[in-house]
Amino acid sequence: MPPRLFLSSGDLLADRRFEFARDLQLKGDLVAAADLLDQAVELAPRFASAWFTLGEIRELLGESDAAIEAFRCARESDALDRHGANLKLMRLGAEPLAEMPKAYVQSLFDQYAPRFDQALLNHLDYRGPELLFKAVLAVRAAARKPAYFDRAIDLGCGTGLAAAAFARQVGEFVGIDLSPGMIERARATGLYAELEVADMLEGLRNRGDASADLVLAGDAMVYVSDVTAVASEARRVLVPGGLLAFTVETHAGDGVIIGNGLRYAHDAEYLRCAMTAAGLVVAHLEAASPRNEDNTPVPGLVVVATKT
Ligand SMILES: C[S@@+](CC[C@H](N)C(=O)[O-])C[C@H]1O[C@@H](n2cnc3c(N)ncnc32)[C@H](O)[C@@H]1O
Repeated sequence: MPPRLFLSSGDLLADRRFEFARDLQLKGDLVAAADLLDQAVELAPRFASAWFTLGEIRELLGESDAAIEAFRCARESDALDRHGANLKLMRLGAEPLAEMPKAYVQSLFDQYAPRFDQALLNHLDYRGPELLFKAVLAVRAAARKPAYFDRAIDLGCGTGLAAAAFARQVGEFVGIDLSPGMIERARATGLYAELEVADMLEGLRNRGDASADLVLAGDAMVYVSDVTAVASEARRVLVPGGLLAFTVETHAGDGVIIGNGLRYAHDAEYLRCAMTAAGLVVAHLEAASPRNEDNTPVPGLVVVATKT
């Protein structure tokens, strides 16, 4: 788990109430923790961290109206919504599905960056890059084409794990990521010719037509609800015959949902339609778990689509 975001209220007493509440929450005394958080937000009515934690506790206590109210206050108390209160509201059905607050993704991964590789590889048994690598090689072998790409774009590149897996298959890598902390780590690998701090859709829009042979997104589309928009831009930047390869988490129902881990899960049919709508042809779509959660493989898909 990434470290928890804390935004001080600026009021020492309220901050202290929050700390005590967190201790009680971790010890399992949710009612007492909620009581202290009520006191904290009375002292500091725009204390986003306290409202957000109160929302989580009310949700655990089964008090969903109170949880919704607290998450709304958290969102109003921090215009950037760095805690991702809007995602909680979407999950509770209080808001329609929408894209993630960008500042939430940024602060999540900026905090995560120093221990990301260790957490993903050791604790979550992250398999995204390996899945992408095998799928891309299989698609190239089936098409009887060499699995070598002059220019690749790594969307949501993170610390560079996907680029490392493809290092021998790619001439030059461009990395795009929302989190400056992750980009800093990616730069340290020396694997990228170019790195850009940007939303992946905006980053792709800055690239020229037919300027890449491969677009990768390892465990990054799980932070994007509208895959069609990204795939359409990927199609524009790909050369004919170029590939878009990505992993997602999936679910048994239809369409796109927000899962427990506050990441989107896309179903296979949605992805097929998204690829078609973007003008790409699905070359490979396979059930494959990109990582574990609570020691259990998360259901997922690996997709490779071609620009014909
Ligand atoms: C779980 S990490 C995966 C990193 C890397 N692709 C890998 O395979 O190790 C997800 C990354 O996607 C980035 N990200 C999430 N949403 C994004 C968006 N809309 N645009 C750009 N990057 C995004 C995050 O900042 C994070 O670095």
